[in-house]
This record gives sequence, C-alpha cells and structure tokens, in this order.
Amino acid sequence: MKVVLIGADGQLGSELLKILPRLATVVPLYYPEFDVTQAQKVRAVLNGLRPDLVINTAAFHRVDECEDNPQASFLVNAIAVRDLALTAREQGFALVHFSTDYVFDGRKTSPYEENDSPAPLNVYGTSKLAGEFFLRSLLDKHFLVRTCGLYGTASSREKGYNFVDRMLALAGEGKTIRVVNDQWVTPTSAAELAERVAELIQTSHYGLFHLTNEGKCTWFEFAQEIFRQAGLNPRLEGIDSRSFGARARRPLYSVLENKRANVLGLKGFSAWPAALTAYLEEKGARA
Ligand SMILES: NC(=O)c1ccc[n+]([C@@H]2O[C@H](COP(=O)([O-])OP(=O)(O)OC[C@H]3O[C@@H](n4cnc5c(N)ncnc54)[C@H](OP(=O)(O)O)[C@@H]3O)[C@@H](O)[C@H]2O)c1
Repeated sequence: MKVVLIGADGQLGSELLKILPRLATVVPLYYPEFDVTQAQKVRAVLNGLRPDLVINTAAFHRVDECEDNPQASFLVNAIAVRDLALTAREQGFALVHFSTDYVFDGRKTSPYEENDSPAPLNVYGTSKLAGEFFLRSLLDKHFLVRTCGLYGTASSREKGYNFVDRMLALAGEGKTIRVVNDQWVTPTSAAELAERVAELIQTSHYGLFHLTNEGKCTWFEFAQEIFRQAGLNPRLEGIDSRSFGARARRPLYSVLENKRANVLGLKGFSAWPAALTAYLEEKGARA
C-alpha cells in the first residue's frame, strides 16, 4: 500500500510518520511546499504519486483565530477537503480526514455518538463540519475521524504549544495559572490515535468514527493531573468560560464515545491519565 501523508510534521502527522512505514510505503508532504488550498497543484502532485490512500491532517485549528478569519478557516477546513475528495474520486484513492468534537454544541450530558446531530458554536467547528459534509457527499472510500483535545510530541513554542506543554511551560513562570473548569473534554494522545488510525486503514470500514482516549475531565482537571504526574506545584485556579473570555464560544461538554470502533471490535484506547503518563515519560517530564 502507498500512503501519502499530508501535514507530516504536525502533532498527529509526525506520530503517523513514526508507525505507518511498518505497513505501507509512506510519502510525507510538508507545508508550505505542499499546500492543500492549492487545488491544481495538489491534483498534479497526487497524480504523479499515485497513492492508494491519502491521509489529510492539515487544518486551520487555532479556534479563536478562526473566529477572526472565517475565509482562511473555510479554505483549509472545508474547500480544500472538497477538492481532495474530488481528486480522490477522480484518481481512485481512499482518503482519511480528521474532524473535531467542536462540531457539537455541548448540550448533551452523555458522550456524543457518531449519529448525534452536530450543531457547532464557532467558526472552526462550522468549517470542520462543512469539510465533513463535502467529504461524505463526494467520496465513498473515506475514513472520517473526529477526535478531541490532541497533544503530541511535535508541539513546539513557535507553532503554539499543545495544552500539556503549555501547562509545563507556564509552571516554570511562577504566575497563577487560570484554566477553565466548566468545559468537559477527553484529552487524546496523538501517538495512540495514530496507532488506531493505522489499524483502521487496514480495514474497509469506511465512514465516520469517533476516536479519543477514554474518560473525561475539565481542562482544569487535566492541568491538575499534568502537574501531579510531573511533580510540579504551581498556583492553579479553576475559572468559568465566561471569566476566561475567549473570542470563540466553545461547547461545555464535548466528550465523544468511540461507539462505532467498539462495535466493530477495533482495539480500545487507554484511559486519558494513562496516555498522559506515556506522553510525559517520552518527554522526560514525569516526576
Ligand atoms: N489539536 C487538537 O486539539 C485537535 C482536536 C480535535 C481535532 N483535531 C483535528 O486533528 C487534525 C490534526 O491536528 P493536529 O493537532 O495534528 O494539527 P497540527 O499539529 O497543526 O498539524 C497540522 C499539519 O498540517 C500542516 N498544514 C497546515 N496548513 C496546511 C495547508 N494549508 N496545507 C498543507 N498542510 C498544512 C501543518 O503545517 P504547519 O505546522 O507548518 O502549519 C501541520 O504540519 C486536524 O484535522 C484537526 O482539526 C485537532
């Protein structure tokens, strides 16, 4: 199998790049040389590579910036996905694409299943949902994976830390750290997600999947657990979303249930605190 990996140095892309060569010939593509918004070039490059499968991890996912720049958000998260789906249909490859828990409005009080109705609250979620609709309506051979709260070792200061690394960095600054305590999520390890995606692409179970670690917490509880496992003791304060004052509205509850993966008997995910342990150990940040 020949796999083209778009966004190969991102959080998820770099984890996929570590493991996919075990089962496929992998061609990694990097931004900005390969830009999913340049449809003609994308089509020509993929035509030259002749992949069996393309994995698209590219996204514009800085949620507050999406609010200020809906055009750029829709270009990467929706229009480019449409163009990729059309190219996939024309050239005959299957497409893996990723979406988000932010397609939901958070009114539910139990984990969202794949067949729950989305109702995004912000531009980011709306643009990702538009990308989902394009993919699902244009291409049969697709895997569409919604995930939540991703963190992976590729995060860097220049690219904007993931939540774990940001908390570790803030702990070193000695100030009070304020984190929202009314948004429920499931932090998800990019390394574990990559393993599950590797398993999924060896099947022909196309369609929509929720894939996250198990369990749930608020961002504040996630921060508490990061500091506990890292042996740090900064001043940490839980606040509500209103006081935090982010530009984009976020769902208060966006926990996903890996319903379809479980029904199909795919390998399960570990509980989020265990996945965090593995991540901190890999970074050498565990107490
Ligand atoms: N991060 C989360 O918490 C989270 C939560 C739920 C769902 N997701 C979804 O999961 C997927 C992977 O997220 P991630 O955290 O791995 O993202 P990431 O670390 O930002 O990686 C995205 C990769 O795509 C590249 N890229 C950006 N714009 C591009 C473009 N126009 N054309 C081609 N490549 C481009 C990025 O390059 P540069 O780094 O050079 O910009 C980067 O290599 C995304 O679809 C995201 O929406 C993420």
